[in-house]
Amino acid sequence: MKILVTGGAGFIGSHVAEAYLREGHEVVVVDDLSAGKREQVPEGAAFYRLDIRSDGMDTVLERERPQVVNHHAAQKSVPRSVRDPLLDSDVNIAGTLKLLNGCVRHGVNRVIFASTGGALASVTAALPTREDAPPAMLSPYAVSKYAVEQYLRLYRQNAGLDFVALRYANVYGPRQAPDGECGAVPIFMGNAAAGRPSLLYSSPDMPNGMTRDYVYIRDVCRANLAALDCAGGQVLNIGSGREVPIGELYEAVCEAMERHLPLVSAGMRAGDLKRSVLDCTRAAELLHWRAETPLPEGLKETAAWFASSAS
Ligand SMILES: NC(=O)c1ccc[n+]([C@@H]2O[C@H](COP(=O)([O-])OP(=O)(O)OC[C@H]3O[C@@H](n4cnc5c(N)ncnc54)[C@H](O)[C@@H]3O)[C@@H](O)[C@H]2O)c1
Repeated sequence: MKILVTGGAGFIGSHVAEAYLREGHEVVVVDDLSAGKREQVPEGAAFYRLDIRSDGMDTVLERERPQVVNHHAAQKSVPRSVRDPLLDSDVNIAGTLKLLNGCVRHGVNRVIFASTGGALASVTAALPTREDAPPAMLSPYAVSKYAVEQYLRLYRQNAGLDFVALRYANVYGPRQAPDGECGAVPIFMGNAAAGRPSLLYSSPDMPNGMTRDYVYIRDVCRANLAALDCAGGQVLNIGSGREVPIGELYEAVCEAMERHLPLVSAGMRAGDLKRSVLDCTRAAELLHWRAETPLPEGLKETAAWFASSAS
């Protein structure tokens, strides 16, 4: 199969592109290198340095004619989306619509979309969060990811463009930069390596800090492989299903780095969800997927990469 991966020079996209190549697929990467790195584009993939919003995107689709577009390019920062909602919607909504129009014009069968389970978590529904829980919409980033899911439904209905939206929990692993939606692991590793203490955002009722669901990059790649030929029209949570307090994550990072530095208590940040964990039953049923990598194992591999990339 020929697969075009947008954002394939970034953290998740580069691993996904690699996984597709390993399975014998032909891969084309489009990335403007605004956050990604050229050296992260896997060997064997064709590469176009291009903004998805540019007219060149249509030319690439016309020339390459991929069967699947795996869409990871995005404005990925929640705080930046709050500061600049127009930029967020320009890249994440307008840019994606331009891409979808090109997909329809040039015969793409399926779009796999990197959505968010963390930012679309519900504040009213019971935990773990299911895909049909009403999302809290606490940021423009959440609005733009949710909007794209709705557009994907429309394009499937009106233009026959099939889709699978993967709502990631907090993805971690090698190549992750400390500036994304979910940067706790690289931030903690950077602090530990530099001998700096880290901050624990906590409240009296949650002394070990807010909770999140951490899923390892290798498991995320397996979900992107399974999404190539599962039933379409689906929005699926991709997480570990384990609710981990940030204090526990920090301890596990220290173990993996073999460095134990203090965690300094700070208050809860405004707008932060206190608890978040995803129900991944639907992915188990439809993708035959579940997260397999235990947190200590994923962190150990990430710490090894961190040490090798720093040296
Ligand atoms: N990291 C997580 O835990 C997480 C969680 C939920 C969803 N996501 C989503 O997964 C996707 C990948 O995230 P990541 O953490 O790998 O981030 P990343 O920054 O490492 O990857 C994004 C890539 O997209 C590229 N890009 C950005 N804007 C572009 C544009 N206009 N045109 C072309 N390329 C562009 C960047 O250069 C970068 O290489 C994003 O859509 C993000 O919203 C990530």
